[in-house]
Amino acid sequence: MATVKTKWVCQNCGYETPKYMGKCPECGSWASFVEETASSSSEKVKQSSIVDVGEVSKINEITIDEKVRLTTGFEEFDRVLGGGAVAGSTILLAGDPGIGKSTLVLQTARAISDANKKVLYVCAEESANQVKLRAERLNVNSENIYVYAQTDVSNVKKQINELKPDFLIIDSIQAVFDSNITSGAGSVSQIRECTNIFTDIAKSKNITTIIIGHVTKDGNIAGPRVLEHMVDVVLHFEGDKYKSYRILRGIKNRFGSTNEIGIFNMVETGLKEISNPNEIFLSERSGALISGSTVIMAFEGSRVITAEIQALVGSTAYPAPRRVSNGIDYNRLLQILAVIEKRIGLKFNTSDVYVNITGGMEIDEPAADLGVAIAIITCARDVVVSPDTVFIGEIGLSGEIRKVNNIEKRIAEAQKLGFKKVVIPKNNLVSNDKFTIKIIEAEKITDALTSCVSKN
Ligand SMILES: Nc1ncnc2c1ncn2[C@@H]1O[C@H](COP(=O)(O)OP(=O)(O)OP(=O)(O)O)[C@@H](O)[C@H]1O
Ligand SMILES: [Mg+2]
Ligand SMILES: [Zn+2]
Repeated sequence: MATVKTKWVCQNCGYETPKYMGKCPECGSWASFVEETASSSSEKVKQSSIVDVGEVSKINEITIDEKVRLTTGFEEFDRVLGGGAVAGSTILLAGDPGIGKSTLVLQTARAISDANKKVLYVCAEESANQVKLRAERLNVNSENIYVYAQTDVSNVKKQINELKPDFLIIDSIQAVFDSNITSGAGSVSQIRECTNIFTDIAKSKNITTIIIGHVTKDGNIAGPRVLEHMVDVVLHFEGDKYKSYRILRGIKNRFGSTNEIGIFNMVETGLKEISNPNEIFLSERSGALISGSTVIMAFEGSRVITAEIQALVGSTAYPAPRRVSNGIDYNRLLQILAVIEKRIGLKFNTSDVYVNITGGMEIDEPAADLGVAIAIITCARDVVVSPDTVFIGEIGLSGEIRKVNNIEKRIAEAQKLGFKKVVIPKNNLVSNDKFTIKIIEAEKITDALTSCVSKN
């Protein structure tokens, strides 16, 4: 007999306790506990004891039918997935409200259905009419796409058994519920249980599944971290809501690297992929000479991304000067400032420093250091950098410029985009004859400065 138990569950991390707590001992958040009831596990235990125990196989005798990968219709999306969606895998697509998650999956559904596969789109947040309206705008119109407005998981299960789709979309995991659990849709227990059900179905019936998830204000996927362990692939869809660029980023991937990003542009007819992002990022850059602006060649996954770094240094009105970084790691910024103070002698103790990567990009590789440092120094000294120069290099604590990876690809991209000069770490030892762009080797920040900076 099932007994009903109540428990308190942290809605932030999934920590469970029999009694209410003000502060979560696991993740430290306050007032995050919600009472949830669930039928006791005795039923589950009984169920699982009658389940077939399965077989063991020798690894050399297991045969797989040619890793089947479904193409999403977007090269950018396929690359982030590691070459398309692996059949039977579960993909969690997380993103801010309104960023374009439903749009992306609907366009993906079109490509999948064009390949003669059946798609079941479970819209738990919207009515079938709303989905149809979007589909019309995106020009998605296929008899292979089935739209099912449903929030109850057991109904979805029935529909899957009947329809036998190849591809399943759950929009969104926060809106569906399992009636065996009494807490509301979107609670940690519900999210965990429903995800469990969908990953099971995906594996056992070989249905490729995309689960859409919302993220909380601080950028985490709403629901417990365990959610990320349950699925095969975790993707973040992000971007500036006020601009049309969208970036798809791999956070976890059991079938590919997580270094790749996919870049899209949101237009009226849906998402358009941007295969050469560099021209777009640079198109907004004004040709005029301004101090505090540099261009870098960052490496994301297997390709080079051009980004512009802007710095603003000004006297502070606060007792403790402000440091603001958008797009680069805050601690990295503090370290670069400390190196500049010590090695160049510029003082920032009465200055606010803002650093921004334009276009809402985020860059977390050290090769951006030199560009950041030059942007800050030139702004502080009010000198300008010629806009046709690119900076590549990591900065060490003694002000030395350290070697970076993939230097030749970065230089080649700078050359292709028409830059005239590139400042690189001396230790990278690049042979000059391969390139027509002027290569300046720098050992220290001061070398980089003298070689390319002119008075304003
Ligand atoms: N007519 C239009 N022209 C251009 N862009 C549009 C148009 N209509 C909607 N959009 C874009 O689509 C976005 C919404 O897309 P979508 O509904 O796929 O997002 P979502 O992430 O699924 O949102 P939610 O969190 O509400 O489910 C809008 O923020 C807007 O950028
Ligand atoms: Mg949506
Ligand atoms: Zn917690």
